[in-house]
Amino acid sequence: MEIRYVDELLTPAALVEVARMEANLDRMARYTADAGLALRPHTKTHKTPELAAEQLKRGAVGVTVATVREAEVMSAVADDILIAYPPVGAQKLERMMHIPDRVRLAVALDSSEALNELGDAARSHKRNIGVLVEVDAGMNRVGLADPEQVAALARTVGDHAFLEFRGLLFYPGHIREPVFEQPAAIPRVNTLLAQHINAVRAAGLDPQIISGGSTPAAFLAHSFEYINEVRPGTYIFNDRTTAAIGACEWSDCAYTVLATVVSTAVPGQAVVDAGSKALSREDIRGADAPGFGALLDRPDVFVRALSEEHGILDLSRTDWRPRVGDRVRIVPNHVCVSVNLHDKLWAVRGDEVVGWWPIAARNW
Ligand SMILES: Cc1ncc(COP(=O)(O)O)c(C=O)c1O
Repeated sequence: MEIRYVDELLTPAALVEVARMEANLDRMARYTADAGLALRPHTKTHKTPELAAEQLKRGAVGVTVATVREAEVMSAVADDILIAYPPVGAQKLERMMHIPDRVRLAVALDSSEALNELGDAARSHKRNIGVLVEVDAGMNRVGLADPEQVAALARTVGDHAFLEFRGLLFYPGHIREPVFEQPAAIPRVNTLLAQHINAVRAAGLDPQIISGGSTPAAFLAHSFEYINEVRPGTYIFNDRTTAAIGACEWSDCAYTVLATVVSTAVPGQAVVDAGSKALSREDIRGADAPGFGALLDRPDVFVRALSEEHGILDLSRTDWRPRVGDRVRIVPNHVCVSVNLHDKLWAVRGDEVVGWWPIAARNW
Protein backbone atom coordinates (compact mmCIF):
# COMPACT_ATOMS: atom_id res chain seq x y z
CA MET A 1 0.00 0.00 0.00
CA GLU A 2 1.32 3.41 -0.89
CA ILE A 3 2.02 5.58 2.15
CA ARG A 4 0.64 9.10 1.79
CA TYR A 5 0.58 10.48 5.31
CA VAL A 6 3.11 10.61 8.12
CA ASP A 7 0.47 9.05 10.40
CA GLU A 8 0.67 5.87 8.35
CA LEU A 9 4.41 5.34 8.91
CA LEU A 10 5.75 2.62 11.14
CA THR A 11 7.84 4.20 13.89
CA PRO A 12 10.64 4.93 14.49
CA ALA A 13 11.17 6.48 11.07
CA ALA A 14 13.64 9.03 9.70
CA LEU A 15 11.87 12.04 8.20
CA VAL A 16 13.21 14.85 6.02
CA GLU A 17 11.12 18.00 5.75
CA VAL A 18 11.82 18.72 2.10
CA ALA A 19 11.13 22.46 2.13
CA ARG A 20 13.58 23.00 5.01
CA MET A 21 16.25 20.84 3.39
CA GLU A 22 15.92 22.77 0.13
CA ALA A 23 16.18 26.07 1.97
CA ASN A 24 19.34 24.84 3.74
CA LEU A 25 20.85 23.76 0.43
CA ASP A 26 19.96 27.04 -1.26
CA ARG A 27 21.34 29.14 1.62
CA MET A 28 24.72 27.42 1.54
CA ALA A 29 24.92 27.50 -2.26
CA ARG A 30 24.22 31.23 -2.21
CA TYR A 31 26.63 32.00 0.62
CA THR A 32 29.55 30.11 -0.91
CA ALA A 33 28.90 31.61 -4.35
CA ASP A 34 28.86 35.12 -2.86
CA ALA A 35 32.05 34.41 -0.90
CA GLY A 36 33.79 33.04 -4.01
CA LEU A 37 34.31 29.63 -2.41
CA ALA A 38 33.94 26.27 -4.13
CA LEU A 39 31.40 24.10 -2.29
CA ARG A 40 32.20 20.41 -1.99
CA PRO A 41 29.57 19.11 0.46
CA HIS A 42 30.43 16.21 2.73
CA THR A 43 27.95 13.45 1.90
CA LYS A 44 28.60 11.42 5.06
CA THR A 45 25.63 13.26 6.57
CA HIS A 46 22.98 11.88 4.21
CA LYS A 47 24.80 8.99 2.47
CA THR A 48 22.15 9.26 -0.24
CA PRO A 49 23.04 9.85 -3.92
CA GLU A 50 19.72 11.55 -4.71
CA LEU A 51 20.58 14.21 -2.13
CA ALA A 52 24.13 14.59 -3.43
CA ALA A 53 22.50 15.23 -6.81
CA GLU A 54 20.51 18.08 -5.23
CA GLN A 55 23.78 19.58 -3.97
CA LEU A 56 25.46 19.25 -7.36
CA LYS A 57 22.44 20.75 -9.09
CA ARG A 58 22.94 23.84 -6.94
CA GLY A 59 26.52 24.34 -8.08
CA ALA A 60 28.65 22.11 -5.85
CA VAL A 61 31.97 21.44 -7.63
CA GLY A 62 31.96 17.83 -6.49
CA VAL A 63 31.34 15.87 -3.31
CA THR A 64 33.34 14.85 -0.27
CA VAL A 65 33.17 11.36 1.23
CA ALA A 66 34.73 9.66 4.24
CA THR A 67 34.78 6.07 3.00
CA VAL A 68 35.45 4.20 -0.20
CA ARG A 69 31.94 2.76 -0.06
CA GLU A 70 30.52 6.30 0.05
CA ALA A 71 32.68 7.09 -2.99
CA GLU A 72 31.30 4.04 -4.82
CA VAL A 73 27.72 5.05 -4.04
CA MET A 74 28.21 8.73 -4.87
CA SER A 75 29.90 7.88 -8.17
CA ALA A 76 26.38 7.21 -9.49
CA VAL A 77 25.79 10.98 -9.50
CA ALA A 78 29.18 12.69 -9.05
CA ASP A 79 32.12 12.99 -11.45
CA ASP A 80 34.43 14.60 -8.93
CA ILE A 81 34.95 12.98 -5.53
CA LEU A 82 37.28 13.82 -2.67
CA ILE A 83 37.92 11.07 -0.13
CA ALA A 84 38.74 13.24 2.90
CA TYR A 85 40.12 10.37 4.90
CA PRO A 86 43.48 8.54 4.76
CA PRO A 87 42.90 5.57 2.38
CA VAL A 88 45.00 3.02 4.26
CA GLY A 89 44.84 -0.71 3.48
CA ALA A 90 45.06 -2.82 0.33
CA GLN A 91 41.36 -3.75 0.33
CA LYS A 92 40.23 -0.13 0.38
CA LEU A 93 42.70 0.89 -2.29
CA GLU A 94 41.67 -1.97 -4.54
CA ARG A 95 38.02 -0.92 -4.36
CA MET A 96 38.93 2.72 -4.84
CA MET A 97 40.72 1.89 -8.08
CA HIS A 98 37.52 0.33 -9.43
CA ILE A 99 35.46 3.49 -9.05
CA PRO A 100 34.40 4.36 -12.61
CA ASP A 101 37.20 5.98 -14.62
CA ARG A 102 35.13 9.03 -15.51
CA VAL A 103 35.29 10.08 -11.82
CA ARG A 104 38.05 12.54 -10.97
CA LEU A 105 39.32 11.24 -7.63
CA ALA A 106 41.33 12.94 -4.92
CA VAL A 107 42.29 11.82 -1.44
CA ALA A 108 43.54 13.52 1.71
CA LEU A 109 46.39 11.90 3.62
CA ASP A 110 49.08 12.78 6.12
CA SER A 111 51.73 10.04 5.98
CA SER A 112 54.31 8.63 3.60
CA GLU A 113 52.93 5.15 4.33
CA ALA A 114 49.51 6.11 3.00
CA LEU A 115 51.09 7.99 0.08
CA ASN A 116 53.29 5.05 -0.95
CA GLU A 117 50.44 2.54 -0.80
CA LEU A 118 48.25 4.87 -2.83
CA GLY A 119 51.04 5.51 -5.34
CA ASP A 120 51.60 1.76 -5.85
CA ALA A 121 47.87 1.08 -6.31
CA ALA A 122 47.47 4.00 -8.72
CA ARG A 123 50.44 2.82 -10.79
CA SER A 124 49.29 -0.77 -11.02
CA HIS A 125 45.81 0.39 -12.13
CA LYS A 126 47.14 3.31 -14.26
CA ARG A 127 44.72 5.59 -12.47
CA ASN A 128 45.37 9.29 -11.89
CA ILE A 129 44.60 10.41 -8.34
CA GLY A 130 44.88 13.88 -6.82
CA VAL A 131 46.47 14.25 -3.41
CA LEU A 132 45.72 16.84 -0.76
CA VAL A 133 48.10 16.83 2.17
CA GLU A 134 46.10 17.11 5.38
CA VAL A 135 47.31 19.67 7.90
CA ASP A 136 46.33 20.06 11.52
CA ALA A 137 44.79 23.49 12.03
CA GLY A 138 44.08 22.90 15.71
CA MET A 139 41.81 19.88 15.86
CA ASN A 140 44.53 17.37 16.81
CA ARG A 141 42.89 14.47 15.01
CA VAL A 142 44.67 13.83 11.73
CA GLY A 143 46.88 16.17 9.77
CA LEU A 144 50.52 17.19 10.05
CA ALA A 145 51.32 20.09 12.36
CA ASP A 146 54.89 20.77 11.21
CA PRO A 147 55.06 22.87 8.00
CA GLU A 148 58.38 21.27 7.03
CA GLN A 149 56.81 17.82 7.21
CA VAL A 150 53.86 19.06 5.18
CA ALA A 151 56.20 20.39 2.50
CA ALA A 152 58.28 17.20 2.51
CA LEU A 153 55.21 14.99 2.05
CA ALA A 154 53.84 17.28 -0.65
CA ARG A 155 57.14 17.09 -2.50
CA THR A 156 57.19 13.28 -2.52
CA VAL A 157 53.73 13.11 -4.14
CA GLY A 158 55.50 13.89 -7.42
CA ASP A 159 57.68 10.77 -7.06
CA HIS A 160 54.61 8.70 -7.91
CA ALA A 161 53.79 8.51 -11.59
CA PHE A 162 50.01 8.59 -11.26
CA LEU A 163 49.67 10.95 -8.30
CA GLU A 164 49.31 14.71 -8.54
CA PHE A 165 49.75 17.16 -5.63
CA ARG A 166 46.68 19.39 -5.63
CA GLY A 167 46.92 21.28 -2.36
CA LEU A 168 46.18 21.25 1.36
CA LEU A 169 43.18 20.19 3.41
CA PHE A 170 42.18 20.77 7.02
CA TYR A 171 39.03 20.34 9.06
CA PRO A 172 38.29 23.09 11.59
CA GLY A 173 36.15 20.74 13.69
CA HIS A 174 37.65 22.12 16.91
CA ILE A 175 35.74 25.37 16.28
CA ARG A 176 32.30 24.43 17.57
CA GLU A 177 31.69 27.01 20.28
CA PRO A 178 28.68 29.33 19.89
CA VAL A 179 28.97 31.19 16.62
CA PHE A 180 29.43 34.63 18.18
CA GLU A 181 32.56 33.34 19.99
CA GLN A 182 34.07 31.72 16.92
CA PRO A 183 35.81 34.77 15.38
CA ALA A 184 38.36 34.65 18.22
CA ALA A 185 39.49 31.17 17.12
CA ILE A 186 39.95 31.90 13.42
CA PRO A 187 43.17 34.01 13.41
CA ARG A 188 45.14 31.07 14.83
CA VAL A 189 43.95 28.88 11.96
CA ASN A 190 44.96 31.60 9.49
CA THR A 191 48.43 31.81 11.03
CA LEU A 192 48.93 28.04 10.87
CA LEU A 193 47.67 27.88 7.28
CA ALA A 194 50.03 30.67 6.23
CA GLN A 195 52.96 28.71 7.65
CA HIS A 196 51.96 25.54 5.81
CA ILE A 197 51.35 27.32 2.52
CA ASN A 198 54.65 29.20 2.73
CA ALA A 199 56.56 25.99 3.42
CA VAL A 200 54.93 24.25 0.45
CA ARG A 201 55.65 27.20 -1.84
CA ALA A 202 59.25 27.35 -0.62
CA ALA A 203 59.50 23.72 -1.75
CA GLY A 204 58.58 24.88 -5.24
CA LEU A 205 54.99 23.60 -5.22
CA ASP A 206 51.74 25.36 -5.90
CA PRO A 207 48.89 24.34 -3.56
CA GLN A 208 46.00 25.05 -5.92
CA ILE A 209 43.34 23.88 -3.52
CA ILE A 210 43.10 24.92 0.12
CA SER A 211 40.14 22.95 1.41
CA GLY A 212 38.50 23.72 4.75
CA GLY A 213 35.00 24.17 6.03
CA SER A 214 32.54 22.71 8.51
CA THR A 215 28.92 23.34 9.45
CA PRO A 216 29.50 24.99 12.85
CA ALA A 217 31.69 27.68 11.23
CA ALA A 218 30.05 27.52 7.79
CA PHE A 219 28.88 31.11 7.53
CA LEU A 220 32.22 32.43 8.80
CA ALA A 221 34.08 30.67 6.01
CA HIS A 222 34.86 34.07 4.44
CA SER A 223 36.98 34.92 7.53
CA PHE A 224 39.31 32.00 6.93
CA GLU A 225 42.08 33.40 4.78
CA TYR A 226 43.61 31.31 1.99
CA ILE A 227 40.82 28.72 1.65
CA ASN A 228 39.13 28.37 -1.72
CA GLU A 229 36.96 25.31 -1.03
CA VAL A 230 34.62 24.31 1.83
CA ARG A 231 33.20 20.92 2.80
CA PRO A 232 30.24 21.34 5.18
CA GLY A 233 28.07 18.24 5.61
CA THR A 234 25.60 18.63 8.45
CA TYR A 235 24.11 21.83 6.97
CA ILE A 236 21.77 19.89 4.68
CA PHE A 237 19.66 18.83 7.67
CA ASN A 238 21.17 20.61 10.68
CA ASP A 239 20.59 19.17 14.14
CA ARG A 240 20.18 20.07 17.80
CA THR A 241 23.90 20.80 18.17
CA THR A 242 23.98 23.11 15.17
CA ALA A 243 20.99 25.04 16.51
CA ALA A 244 22.37 25.12 20.08
CA ILE A 245 25.53 26.94 18.97
CA GLY A 246 23.57 29.35 16.78
CA ALA A 247 24.85 28.03 13.45
CA CYS A 248 21.24 27.60 12.34
CA GLU A 249 17.76 28.40 13.61
CA TRP A 250 15.70 25.69 15.25
CA SER A 251 13.31 26.06 12.32
CA ASP A 252 16.16 25.05 9.96
CA CYS A 253 16.25 21.53 11.40
CA ALA A 254 15.06 19.39 8.48
CA TYR A 255 15.64 15.89 9.87
CA THR A 256 13.65 14.28 12.66
CA VAL A 257 13.00 10.83 13.99
CA LEU A 258 9.29 10.13 14.13
CA ALA A 259 8.45 8.19 17.29
CA THR A 260 5.37 6.95 19.15
CA VAL A 261 4.74 7.41 22.87
CA VAL A 262 4.57 3.89 24.28
CA SER A 263 4.41 4.55 28.04
CA THR A 264 3.61 7.30 30.51
CA ALA A 265 3.60 5.02 33.52
CA VAL A 266 6.43 6.78 35.34
CA PRO A 267 5.46 10.31 36.46
CA GLY A 268 7.44 13.18 34.92
CA GLN A 269 8.40 11.34 31.78
CA ALA A 270 7.09 9.70 28.64
CA VAL A 271 8.73 6.85 26.81
CA VAL A 272 8.96 6.73 23.00
CA ASP A 273 9.94 3.91 20.67
CA ALA A 274 13.07 5.68 19.44
CA GLY A 275 16.11 4.74 21.51
CA SER A 276 19.83 4.72 20.87
CA LYS A 277 19.26 2.52 17.79
CA ALA A 278 17.23 5.28 16.13
CA LEU A 279 18.60 8.54 17.56
CA SER A 280 22.22 7.64 18.46
CA ARG A 281 23.78 8.38 21.82
CA GLU A 282 25.68 11.57 21.06
CA ASP A 283 26.21 14.42 23.49
CA ILE A 284 25.77 18.02 22.46
CA ARG A 285 29.20 19.48 21.76
CA GLY A 286 29.98 23.17 22.06
CA ALA A 287 26.91 24.16 24.06
CA ASP A 288 25.30 23.29 27.33
CA ALA A 289 22.15 21.25 26.74
CA PRO A 290 21.14 18.02 28.44
CA GLY A 291 20.07 14.79 26.75
CA PHE A 292 20.27 13.28 23.29
CA GLY A 293 17.65 15.16 21.30
CA ALA A 294 14.58 17.38 21.64
CA LEU A 295 11.09 17.54 20.19
CA LEU A 296 10.80 19.62 17.05
CA ASP A 297 7.53 21.22 18.15
CA ARG A 298 8.46 21.46 21.83
CA PRO A 299 12.22 21.99 22.17
CA ASP A 300 11.80 22.20 25.96
CA VAL A 301 11.08 18.49 25.93
CA PHE A 302 14.35 16.63 25.60
CA VAL A 303 15.39 13.00 25.48
CA ARG A 304 16.86 12.56 28.94
CA ALA A 305 17.95 8.93 28.69
CA LEU A 306 18.18 6.14 26.14
CA SER A 307 17.95 2.39 26.03
CA GLU A 308 18.23 0.62 22.71
CA GLU A 309 14.52 0.91 21.87
CA HIS A 310 13.40 3.36 24.55
CA GLY A 311 13.80 7.12 24.56
CA ILE A 312 12.87 8.80 27.85
CA LEU A 313 11.32 12.24 27.31
CA ASP A 314 11.84 14.66 30.19
CA LEU A 315 8.62 16.55 30.97
CA SER A 316 9.99 18.71 33.80
CA ARG A 317 10.09 21.88 31.67
CA THR A 318 6.63 21.59 30.12
CA ASP A 319 2.95 21.37 31.02
CA TRP A 320 2.39 19.10 28.05
CA ARG A 321 1.26 15.62 29.07
CA PRO A 322 1.43 13.22 26.13
CA ARG A 323 -0.78 10.14 25.88
CA VAL A 324 0.21 6.67 24.86
CA GLY A 325 -0.11 6.52 21.08
CA ASP A 326 0.81 10.17 20.49
CA ARG A 327 3.48 10.76 17.87
CA VAL A 328 6.42 13.13 18.15
CA ARG A 329 9.26 14.29 15.89
CA ILE A 330 12.66 14.30 17.59
CA VAL A 331 15.65 16.36 16.43
CA PRO A 332 18.75 14.33 17.37
CA ASN A 333 21.89 15.93 18.79
CA HIS A 334 24.02 14.70 15.89
CA VAL A 335 22.15 14.04 12.68
CA CYS A 336 24.89 12.20 10.75
CA VAL A 337 25.05 9.34 13.24
CA SER A 338 21.26 9.04 13.44
CA VAL A 339 20.86 8.88 9.65
CA ASN A 340 23.34 6.01 9.51
CA LEU A 341 21.04 3.98 11.79
CA HIS A 342 18.15 4.04 9.29
CA ASP A 343 17.74 2.46 5.89
CA LYS A 344 15.51 5.06 4.28
CA LEU A 345 14.71 8.73 4.54
CA TRP A 346 11.03 9.61 4.22
CA ALA A 347 10.55 12.86 2.32
CA VAL A 348 7.70 14.79 3.93
CA ARG A 349 5.93 18.09 3.49
CA GLY A 350 4.16 18.70 6.77
CA ASP A 351 1.89 15.72 7.37
CA GLU A 352 2.21 14.36 3.85
CA VAL A 353 4.72 11.78 2.69
CA VAL A 354 5.95 12.79 -0.76
CA GLY A 355 8.55 10.09 -1.34
CA TRP A 356 11.54 8.31 0.13
CA TRP A 357 15.20 7.76 -0.58
CA PRO A 358 17.25 4.66 0.28
CA ILE A 359 20.29 5.60 2.39
CA ALA A 360 22.48 3.71 -0.03
CA ALA A 361 25.83 4.17 1.73
CA ARG A 362 24.63 3.58 5.28
CA ASN A 363 26.77 1.40 7.54
CA TRP A 364 29.86 1.81 5.39
C1 LIG B 1 37.24 15.93 7.03
C2 LIG B 1 35.88 16.48 7.21
N1 LIG B 1 35.45 17.46 6.39
C3 LIG B 1 34.21 18.00 6.49
C4 LIG B 1 33.32 17.56 7.46
C5 LIG B 1 31.94 18.17 7.53
O1 LIG B 1 31.72 18.78 8.74
P1 LIG B 1 30.27 19.17 9.29
O2 LIG B 1 29.55 17.91 9.54
O3 LIG B 1 30.56 19.94 10.49
O4 LIG B 1 29.59 19.95 8.27
C6 LIG B 1 33.74 16.56 8.35
C7 LIG B 1 32.84 16.09 9.42
O5 LIG B 1 33.10 15.23 10.20
C8 LIG B 1 35.04 16.00 8.22
O6 LIG B 1 35.47 15.04 9.05
